[in-house]
Amino acid sequence: MISFKINGKDARVDADPSTPLLWVIRDHLQLTGTKFGCGIAQCGACTVHLDGKAVRSCSTPVSAASGKQVTTIEGLAETALGKTVQDAWQEEDVPQCGYCQSGQIMSAAALLKEHPHPGEAQISAAMDGNLCRCGTYNRIRSAIQRAAEMQGGAK
Ligand code: FES
Ligand code: FES
Repeated sequence: MISFKINGKDARVDADPSTPLLWVIRDHLQLTGTKFGCGIAQCGACTVHLDGKAVRSCSTPVSAASGKQVTTIEGLAETALGKTVQDAWQEEDVPQCGYCQSGQIMSAAALLKEHPHPGEAQISAAMDGNLCRCGTYNRIRSAIQRAAEMQGGAK
């Protein structure tokens, strides 16, 4: 049995310790906002926060979450930062098909938590691993800047 907190609630799952955290989140805990893209840490669709840091849940064993705090897009939506990022995403009309977007938002939120007013290089470093087949990259960058302004972090 592996225990951790997910979106502020206790979770105890009966899974092999090597099971990818992504499958535990989606199949055991039925939180399907986190997406499967590549399965090999190359696309970012599966990004969640582990103790506040963005990680690729497809390549993170559930054992790594033991005793830690996991936040998914569902939990982020309940936080002030999450609401700000989502509002910025809507105002910039970012998504197209939407498949990559929960991962994009999780990476952006982790960035904004660490750097409330990120520069271009910091945005690139944080977001480079999140792919978007629809090519929404420019709008994502605009939405991150907008979220920084909305939370009073504008330069
Ligand atoms: S599904 Fe995890 S990085 Fe692509
Ligand atoms: S919005 Fe379609 S993959 Fe990013």
